[in-house]
Amino acid sequence: MGGEVVIGRGLALESPVGAASGTFGYGFEAERMGNLAGLGAVFTKGTTVAPRPGNAPPRIAEVPGGMLNSIGLQNPGVEVVASEYAPRWRRWGPKVIVNVAGSTIDDYVRVCQRLDLVPEVAGVELNISCPNIAHGLDLGVDPHAAAACTRAVRKVTGKALIVKLTPNVTDIAEIGRAVQDGGADAVSAVNTYLGLKWSHIRGAPVLPGSGMAGLSGPAIKPLALAAVARLVAALRIPVIGIGGIASADDAREFLELGARAIQIGTANFYLPGIAASCAAELRQGAGPA
Ligand SMILES: Cc1cc2nc3c(=O)[nH]c(=O)nc-3n(C[C@H](O)[C@H](O)[C@H](O)COP(=O)(O)O)c2cc1C
Repeated sequence: MGGEVVIGRGLALESPVGAASGTFGYGFEAERMGNLAGLGAVFTKGTTVAPRPGNAPPRIAEVPGGMLNSIGLQNPGVEVVASEYAPRWRRWGPKVIVNVAGSTIDDYVRVCQRLDLVPEVAGVELNISCPNIAHGLDLGVDPHAAAACTRAVRKVTGKALIVKLTPNVTDIAEIGRAVQDGGADAVSAVNTYLGLKWSHIRGAPVLPGSGMAGLSGPAIKPLALAAVARLVAALRIPVIGIGGIASADDAREFLELGARAIQIGTANFYLPGIAASCAAELRQGAGPA
C-alpha cells in the first residue's frame, strides 16, 4: 500500500503520501527541516498569474478538531515560481505539483501555459474551489464551468492535470464526472468546507469581513471520506484523498476506500514531519510502534 503509485498520464510517485496545498508552502521549509524524505509529492501553495499579498490578518482561527483559514491566496505569482523556485526542485525525490488558482478560466490557462515550459513541474492541480474568491467558487460548484476550465487547461498542458474539488456542493460526483469528461487525469478531494467562527463577546465573526472561511483538520475526515467514496464509485480516473489525515492509519482509511494517493494538510502545522513519517510507516506496511 505504501509503494509507488501512478496518478495519471504516467506520473509515478514514489509514495502515495503527499503534502497538501497551502500547508507546505513551496516545500523549502520542509526541505530545510529534512521533512521531504520519502514523500510522493509536494502540492504547492495556490499560484496565480500575478503576485497576491493575501488577506489582511487575522487569517486563521482555531476551532474544535481543526482550523478555519481565509488566507486569500498569498503567493509570489507564476513567473517567480517558474523561474526562481522551480530550479530548486530539480534534485528532489518528491514530485512537485503546482496548485493553480484564478478568477477566470483565462487565468488558469495562463498559469498552466507558463508552467508547461518548466521541466521541474510534474503536474498541475487546479484549485477551482477556493471559497475566498467569488469566481473560484463559481467554477467549482458548476459542472459546466468546471468542465470548461478543465478542457481549456487540457489544451495548453502536457503535464498531469489534477482537478481539486470543493466539497461545498450537493453532488460532488457530478462535478467529478464533468472534469473527467473535460480531460482531467485525476481529481483530488476535498478542499476546505465553508465554515464560520462567531465571537459572542464582540458580536461579530472572528475572521474579518463576512467571517466565511475554509474548515480543515480532523473534524472534516468523516465528511472527506464520504466525498471520496462517492468519487471512487463514480469515476474511472484516480482519486486523491484529502481531509483531516493526521496519521498513517488515517491515510490507510482513504487508501482502503479506493483513493490512489492521499495528501496531508492541516496536520503539518501541529505535527511537522507527519507527512514523511506517514510515508515511511506505510512503506514498512506496519502499524504504529
Ligand atoms: C492554511 C491553509 C491554506 C490552504 N491553501 C490552499 C490553496 O492555496 N489551494 C488549495 O487548493 N487548497 C488549499 N488549502 C486546502 C488544503 O490543501 C486541504 O485541501 C484542506 O485543508 C483539507 O485537508 P486537511 O484537513 O488535511 O487540512 C489550504 C488549507 C489551509 C489549512
